[in-house]
Amino acid sequence: MTHAHASTPGTVALAPSILDSDLTRLGDSLDALERAGVEYIHLDVMDGRFVPNISIGVPVVASVRKATQLPLDVHLMIVEPERYVNAFLDAGADILTVHVEATPHPHRALQMIRERGRRAGLALNPGTPVSTVRDLLPFCDLVLLMSVNPGFGGQAFIETTYRRIGELTEMLDRDGLSALVEVDGGVGVANAARVVQAGANMLVAGSAIFKSKLGVEEAVKALRAAVSR
Ligand code: DX5
Ligand code: ZN
Repeated sequence: MTHAHASTPGTVALAPSILDSDLTRLGDSLDALERAGVEYIHLDVMDGRFVPNISIGVPVVASVRKATQLPLDVHLMIVEPERYVNAFLDAGADILTVHVEATPHPHRALQMIRERGRRAGLALNPGTPVSTVRDLLPFCDLVLLMSVNPGFGGQAFIETTYRRIGELTEMLDRDGLSALVEVDGGVGVANAARVVQAGANMLVAGSAIFKSKLGVEEAVKALRAAVSR
């Protein structure tokens, strides 16, 4: 059967991560991303506990909310995310994603997000079997598969992700669900087409956009072209 997640050209959403951008020029970066026509801004929140790095928090998300019309895709890499769900929703997250490994109560966190009318995302580390989240899928608007170990930008894409995307999209189809399938880490022009072919319909890209010699707008165009043929 053809599954609902097989992305046809043009239906892939790009969600650039500002993690490795120049944060003193965040407004300029957001303007460039808007001009380039991306679908989401991906914001990586790290607490130095769930992951070995510390990044941005509530005030930056709130500032970005004021500086762009684009929907904010906020990725929480923090322990016990349910303690901060309301703060990040107040700050303006449109999609709020929690890690299944970060709390004994992922279901509660997802419910809290949906109760406030926002989209709830569930993220899985590369080593977490996809099958373990089956009972959570009806409560997800998005599932984020990490294709690197979370914590840093610029890492190499882990190849087992292709099979994992397939497992996830099959499970969603089998259960009649239509959550977005987002892939995060090491995505760029070299592998984006294969990631989409495997069933992803939302791509995060950090270094591929902000460390590209092409500049932000051209780098987004190149990524778009890579998934549109
Ligand atoms: C990693 C973050 C990613 C990452 C993406 O912990 O969740 O969003 O910054 O950066 P690249 O595309 O460089 O892997
Ligand atoms: Zn991320």
